[in-house]
Amino acid sequence: MFITLEGGEGAGKSTQIRRLAAHLAARGRPVLLTREPGGSAGAEATRALLLSRPWDAKAEMLLHFAARREHVARSIRPALAAGAVVLCDRFADSTLAYQVAGQGGDRALWDGLVQLSLDGVWPDRTLLLDIPPETGLARAHTRGEVNRYESLGLGFHSRVRQCFLDQAAAEPGRFRVIDAGQGPEAVFAAMLAALPPELGA
Ligand code: TYD
Repeated sequence: MFITLEGGEGAGKSTQIRRLAAHLAARGRPVLLTREPGGSAGAEATRALLLSRPWDAKAEMLLHFAARREHVARSIRPALAAGAVVLCDRFADSTLAYQVAGQGGDRALWDGLVQLSLDGVWPDRTLLLDIPPETGLARAHTRGEVNRYESLGLGFHSRVRQCFLDQAAAEPGRFRVIDAGQGPEAVFAAMLAALPPELGA
């Protein structure tokens, strides 16, 4: 079972995904908790490159997918093959939202890279933690250090949010949209309710 969390800045994904991993592990499920960009040694090195400086738009998309391919090959696929539940903080939907919708990148390139680089590995369920960008960015800024994407303007983050919502509407079987503006307990309860029934969480 491959489960991804998606959403804009300050939606609380990182906190909630750790809690979900602990919840499943306490019920005896083997869990791989991972994140993107990153999640394997090479992909974490690529993350540092991606976050440290601006890139040509196509180069940036290729770097995200190079890191993702490495992550899938070395971490995600082996864990799935071993029967683990893989929980991943961001995946390919983030590249569609940030690099294509946000930065005006090439949608056909995204489609092609999904086909070419992931060997069919694709989330079974995606939980979209949705929050208005004004609220999310304010939360992210109170949290302290701001990454290169967080410092892009409200217009950028509004396109990112709309893209996630459009993806959720286009793929209702895979996506569940969760209101991340509720308190953390309510968000967590909604996440549990949104898991595939096979997980019995
Ligand atoms: P991170 O610190 O993990 O941010 P967050 O806590 O908001 O998830 O940094 C990841 C940043 O990388 C985040 O701002 C979104 C961006 N990103 C992309 O632009 N494209 C992608 O494909 C991925 C996976 C992340």
